[in-house]
Amino acid sequence: MNDKIPRQYLAATYRQYPIMPIEGKGCRLIDRQGKSYLDLTSGIGVNVFGYGNNDWQQAMIKQIYRLTHCSNLFLNEQAIECARLLCEKTGCERVFFANSGAESNEGAIKAARKYSHDRYGENRSEILTLTNSFHGRTITTLSANGQSVFHQHYMPFTEGFQHVYTNDINDFKHKLSSRTCAVMLELIQGEGGVNELTPAFVNEIQAICKERDILLIIDEVQTGIGRCGSLFLYEQYHLTPDIVTCAKGLGGGLPIGAVLFFHKTKDVFQQGDHGSTFGGNMLSCTSAIYVLTHLNEKLYRDIRENGIYFKQELLKCPHVEAVSGRGYMLGIRFDRPFAQHIAHRCMENNLLVTTAKNHIRLLPPLVLTRAEIDEAVTILKGILNTEP
Ligand SMILES: Cc1ncc(COP(=O)(O)O)c(C=O)c1O
Repeated sequence: MNDKIPRQYLAATYRQYPIMPIEGKGCRLIDRQGKSYLDLTSGIGVNVFGYGNNDWQQAMIKQIYRLTHCSNLFLNEQAIECARLLCEKTGCERVFFANSGAESNEGAIKAARKYSHDRYGENRSEILTLTNSFHGRTITTLSANGQSVFHQHYMPFTEGFQHVYTNDINDFKHKLSSRTCAVMLELIQGEGGVNELTPAFVNEIQAICKERDILLIIDEVQTGIGRCGSLFLYEQYHLTPDIVTCAKGLGGGLPIGAVLFFHKTKDVFQQGDHGSTFGGNMLSCTSAIYVLTHLNEKLYRDIRENGIYFKQELLKCPHVEAVSGRGYMLGIRFDRPFAQHIAHRCMENNLLVTTAKNHIRLLPPLVLTRAEIDEAVTILKGILNTEP
């Protein structure tokens, strides 16, 4: 049946699993043949409260009946409230709303360059990012990505990025120069294979940045909004960033991105400096308000504890060499390069997982229970047991 889906109308940019989910409840997705799957992908880290959440649906319906969009020509109650919540919960002082992670990072990059230009003039616009990093797919964020696979086809790319070897402070110091205006980091690299940055590396970077008035940008598009067991992962690293970007889980299923400006950067953007037609969209912001007011300390603690439990159980499976990540952002490394094959076998066995490089990557809804973890591990173990 799925083979008859007329895919030819869509740009062929994605390698897609041959299933078409049409509804969901909790952490389960149901495809159009009625087959139910335990979903450990949550729309790549988006559906933080799972599927079919009645309270969320009611909040959305109420807003749809009022207004969904007016643009930034007018004041917008939902955008103001959503920004207020982000400021109150993080200590940031202003928020710019975008529509995706890449756009949020574009906003952060523009703000960092403007901050530097306003104070130091030209020739101080370089941004350091890390090898294996992923910040998006716009022409500028492709340049930021520290993976050569993204630096093909679309020349000329945006200039002004240097890539530092991950967790190598000497390389960082070597690439730092009088031209550097900012450093942009994912504290756990998601697409790059769930690689954790060491606190020592990040702390030293922060100290150097503060000393030289270089901005520290933390890309929390994947790690943020509860995913690693706190609203943002920089909290667990005890950092005081200048700019934080987020998206994915913030909208809980609707598209939204945000750039959080802390004290130093709060007034960089002035009228006309940046914008987006859909930025601060009323429906997306209503959804983000729902997410921000329903995340809580108990859920964060559960995510942290369940993440540790999940790791321990996964490490008991055959072929599993290591499990990286924190909370509900986990990467499984095997003793052979067969993550894609295992992901397909999982799907055939009603378990949905994603991959990152040669890892299975798990990004479940944040409401995943211990019983569901056990169920997932049982399925995975069963599959791995049959692999030679
Ligand atoms: C860390 C990080 N930054 C940026 C992005 C880009 O986000 P989007 O796909 O919403 O543009 C992603 C997407 O996976 C991401 O993981």
